[in-house]
Amino acid sequence: MSNEKTYYITTPIYYPSAKLHIGNTYTTVAADALARYKRLTGYDVMFLTGTDEHGQKIQRIAEEKGVTPKDYVDEIVAGIQDLWKLMNISYDKFIRTTDDYHKKTVQKIFKQLYDQGDIYKGAYEGWYCTPCESFWTDTQAVDGKCPDCGRPVETAKEEAYFFKMSKYADRLIEYIETHPEFIQPESRKNEMLNNFLRPGLQDLCISRTTFTWGIPVEFDPDHVVYVWMDALSNYISALGFDSDNDQLYKKYWPCDVHLVGKDIIRFHTIYWPIFLMALGQELPKQVFGHGWLLVDGGKMSKSKGNVVDPVVLVNHFGTDAVRYYLLHEIPFGSDGNFNSEIFIKKVNSDLANDLGNLLSRTTAMVIKYFDGVIQPPTDKEDIDNELINIALDMPKKVEAAINELNLPQALDEIWTLIRRANKYIDETTPWILAKDEDKKARLGTVLYNLIEALRFASVAVSSFLPETGTKIQEQLKVDVATWDSISAFDGTQAGVTLEKGDVIFPRIDVEAKLAEFEALKEAEQPKQQMQPLKEEISIEDFEKIDLRVVKVLACEPVKGAKKLLKLKVDLAGEERQVISGIAQYYKPEDLIGKYVVLVANLKAAKLRGEISQGMILAASTDDDSKLFTVTIPEELPTGSQVR
Ligand code: MSP
Repeated sequence: MSNEKTYYITTPIYYPSAKLHIGNTYTTVAADALARYKRLTGYDVMFLTGTDEHGQKIQRIAEEKGVTPKDYVDEIVAGIQDLWKLMNISYDKFIRTTDDYHKKTVQKIFKQLYDQGDIYKGAYEGWYCTPCESFWTDTQAVDGKCPDCGRPVETAKEEAYFFKMSKYADRLIEYIETHPEFIQPESRKNEMLNNFLRPGLQDLCISRTTFTWGIPVEFDPDHVVYVWMDALSNYISALGFDSDNDQLYKKYWPCDVHLVGKDIIRFHTIYWPIFLMALGQELPKQVFGHGWLLVDGGKMSKSKGNVVDPVVLVNHFGTDAVRYYLLHEIPFGSDGNFNSEIFIKKVNSDLANDLGNLLSRTTAMVIKYFDGVIQPPTDKEDIDNELINIALDMPKKVEAAINELNLPQALDEIWTLIRRANKYIDETTPWILAKDEDKKARLGTVLYNLIEALRFASVAVSSFLPETGTKIQEQLKVDVATWDSISAFDGTQAGVTLEKGDVIFPRIDVEAKLAEFEALKEAEQPKQQMQPLKEEISIEDFEKIDLRVVKVLACEPVKGAKKLLKLKVDLAGEERQVISGIAQYYKPEDLIGKYVVLVANLKAAKLRGEISQGMILAASTDDDSKLFTVTIPEELPTGSQVR
């Protein structure tokens, strides 16, 4: 084995249920920047991405479209691979869970865990959320909705295999507590420990019999392996785990970092390490849960018509503008926002102005004052040192930020140098030096320093914006662009002749571009297809439902249930308590005093230990991205009938 430093980084494998949006693109671009940086700094990198192709949801979509699941995913996966090409993603391997070697590995893993007694056969009875591919207990699936995504869950009752999660829980808690770097950022670690691990883990259902699009359990082929066990195993099957061809596994495992969105951190920090413990394998060194990219402050969804397609953005602004925004605008570990206007303004200020102008001004002056020939730095002054020191400190600062996976900070360090170089032009006023023949050497030195600062920036930026790094280096005819070469401020070769190059980031007319985008959005706005109408009922059927006007007297969140609100309502002097799954849409204070409609003769039920005496009516989009309670606009005696 070589003693080279290795670095293994993964993205989640994406569901090819629809084409990917800007949010999924973020994870992959961030992983790409890290992979490129590690390669540049001498690591032997394995960067894995891919697609998670099995499961009920994909089977259903394919059935609706009248194609086989494999044909359906083949087309979407090809699109995903095209997107990664467009985004300049330098993955080393692309895994598809429909690949034969992966399927074999998953079957072997399942068998081993069964043979060693960690998996047993039982019966599953509970709730299942198909879009999230998640099982929920009665107390978790509140109001018949998935506690993660809020969509309706379905009952699932079937023979199934279970994994004895609880057997490993204590070991995992200890591991997490003794390895503070394992779950990052810190807040996510506490969430996992307090919300999931410490309250006690239930055994996990790990097979399904109600659909067939999955990896069959080898010794019981009526069952397919639960998608999360199938999916998580990709991180080791891709390296040849448990096969004759396991050199990559020996070389790269354990993984340095699994980069995942915050919604799937639970699977990566509880299920996955427990599966690995059961297999007797080392655990990944780190799982980093990044925040979400919101659009105009809200979640992206088809029905809102706010899904941002990275391909459209790249076609308008280029790959690196999109990469820059994603890498710089999502704060370290928390949610970020996409907004077209902020995006365009950022491209103008940071890329066109700060970086692009620095390059074009510098090359233009070398061409104008020295026929393009780079001069040696023979006439130094004190003022140069500040620029030079910032340049020399920058790589260490970038490295420190990257090691914490703080990519916006790393970019800020590079931009500190770029902005300092712009200021240096204003301070040294080369156009004034140019008027004085005696200042030629000084002018040459100033321009040398600017070119060298740009070379530093180009090397450091190349992991984030690879095309831009290369373009700058081509225009400056940079000879050496290694990471080592930016430890000394002397890598630029005097005597080389520069030519006028293209503007790397043309300035964008903000108003005109926004208007163009609006027009595009209008044209593309999807119209929600109405759900098919239910079976006809008689007036007598309808009259069985007793709908009454009630006034909301009090309202508060239900502890430990982020989707629920507890309402106290007045029904003609009677006070009732209603638990309603509307916490995502209303703050308690928004509802107090409102007149809403109650299904007053609905049998009382307990939700999360709280009694609910009736149901509040609400209208929502099919994907639940928007919801409004049915409200009576003005005061009406409570208890009035709604007919
Ligand atoms: N297939 C599973 C992952 C299995 S990994 C063993 C899955 N796929 S996904 O396609 O739904 O999501 C993939 C990644 O995209 C997740 O990390 C998720 O957090 C991320 N994102 C989806 N929407 C996002 C945003 N709006 N913003 C940032 N990332 C988001 O989950």
